[in-house]
Order: sequence, then structure tokens, then C-alpha cells
Amino acid sequence: MTIAPVQSSPSLGSSGWTDARLILALEEVVEKELNRHLAIAKEWMPHEYVPWGQGRDFDGVLGGEAWSLEQSKVTPLGRVSLVVNLLTEDNLPSYHHEIATMFGREGAWGTWVHRWTAEEGRHGIAIRDYLLATRAVDPVELERARMSHMSEGFESDNAHSMLHSVAYVAFQELATRISHRNTGKYAGDPLADQLLAKIANDENLHMVFYRNLLKAALEIAPDQAMGAIADVVTDFRMPGHGIPGFERAAAQIAIGGVYNLRIHHDDVLQPVLRHLRVMEVTGLGPEGLLAQDRLGAFLDGLDAQATKFEERQAALLARREARRNAG
Ligand SMILES: [Fe+2]
Ligand SMILES: [Fe+2]
Repeated sequence: MTIAPVQSSPSLGSSGWTDARLILALEEVVEKELNRHLAIAKEWMPHEYVPWGQGRDFDGVLGGEAWSLEQSKVTPLGRVSLVVNLLTEDNLPSYHHEIATMFGREGAWGTWVHRWTAEEGRHGIAIRDYLLATRAVDPVELERARMSHMSEGFESDNAHSMLHSVAYVAFQELATRISHRNTGKYAGDPLADQLLAKIANDENLHMVFYRNLLKAALEIAPDQAMGAIADVVTDFRMPGHGIPGFERAAAQIAIGGVYNLRIHHDDVLQPVLRHLRVMEVTGLGPEGLLAQDRLGAFLDGLDAQATKFEERQAALLARREARRNAG
């Protein structure tokens, strides 16, 4: 773990905002956003979304039926995406540790961190129950992947400052929302779609919390916030990158249209950046202006890369279609 305790964080940038001072300055915003979240978030019951009637005993202790692929009613893309999404949710203890270490457990910050963790926990529970009751994936492989992924822990790429962490989670929560939403769309089971839409709704509220916090940070410490946003956007990786076989899964997820560069650029980065009017922020010092330029150049490059990806994707899908027709 490389996160420095808040008290010993060095002074950041020329404006002299330390993490400890920023955390204090944002406390009121955190409290306001926490109250807004608590007022909007509606309680929901994960067990209501799981078709328990489809469930039956597995082999082993209870002597039921072993899992086999033909039992799974979800699409191959749905299987891969559901597992990646679940394993990402499963690694929650590591994320909680990162966030609680960075923001502290006192006052509104602490209340938020614990509440957020409890909500994320519900997501993992609901997806796992759905997968096991419907026999959508191999339960042994799933458990081994969970053990292996969680045993790796999670180390944030964004531990340089609390603003980096806030910027990362603002984009990451939206990325998770889109990923759940598209997984539901392509899973081939309306029940999966219904459950993932519910979860995606929570992720959206999480995104709004962190995005509004980032907005306040842009007003209080514009240069540092701009620097953090530029760093995070130019070096973004999903938290699931430590999942066994992630590269291969990510490629399938990209080609299948659950999550790829085009989606990342259009549906994740741009909506947050536009909402914050990041490219129009004025009153920046030299550091902030440099960061803003760096961000703008990166986004242009990403857009071009996304277009190239779409061309490769279209060609690949056309080849697959031709093979299917030939066979
Ligand atoms: Fe979640
Ligand atoms: Fe979330």
C-alpha cells in the first residue's frame, strides 16, 4: 500500500493546499452531498432480484448436480462481463481501505465511506446470488478467481493526493455504471438486465457524489484539481485490471460493446468533463493551464484512437459474420 497518511502528505503545488487542509475545506460539501445522497437513495432488496426458483443443489457436500456450460442461459459476452463486474465489486475491502485511509473515518467523510461500502457490498451479493441461482457461470472457477483477485489486493494508481482519488472515483463510478448497464443489455437474460439496471442506478448516485465534490475542489483549488483530473484521465485503468485473465476478458468486453475506448471517451470521460466545464475553467495559474492543455491534447488523441478501434471492431465483426454465414 503506497498511500501516505493524510497528516504527512506534502504540500501540493504552489497554492499550498495540503490534503489535510483540502479534506477540511471540503467537509461541508461532503456533508451536503451525503445528505442529498441519503435523501435520494432508495432502499432495495437484493434477494428480490434473484430467481431462487431456478436454483438447485450443486455437487459436492449436498450431492446435487455439477455445473456445466449448457446450463448457462446468458451469452458468452454476458458470462465474461458479469464475472469481471462481480470480481471488481468483490474487491471492496481493498477499496474501502484505500478510501478510508485517504479521506479518514471522521465526520461526514467517515459516514460516507462506510455508507458507500455498504451499498457496494449489496452489488456483489446480488450479482453472485443471481449467477449461482441461475447457474450462469462455473461456481468453482468463480470462487477461485475471487480468491486469486482478492489475494492480490488493490493498489490505487491515484494515491498521489486526495484530489487524484476523488477524480478517479468520479470517472470510475460512471465507468462501472455504464459497464453494468451494457452487460445487462447483452447478457441475454431480462432478469440480469433488470438487476444490473438497479445496480447501475446506485453507481450513478455514487458518481454524482464524487463529481460534485470534484466540482467544489475545482472552485477551491483550481490548479491542483485540474492537475489531478489531467493525471487521472491520461492514466486511467479500471480497478479490475488485476483479475486473472483480465486482458483477454477486456478484449471480449471491448469488441462486444460493453466497454471500450469509444464508450470510455463518449459515455464516461466527456459527460463528467462537460458537466464540470473543465475545458472552460478560467482563472488558472501556469500549472493549471498546462494541465488543461495536456488534458485537451489527450482527449483529441483518445477520440482518434477510439475511431481506429471502431474500424477494427467493425472489420472483426464483419469477418465473424461472414464465417457464420459460410459455416
Ligand atoms: Fe458497485
Ligand atoms: Fe459505486
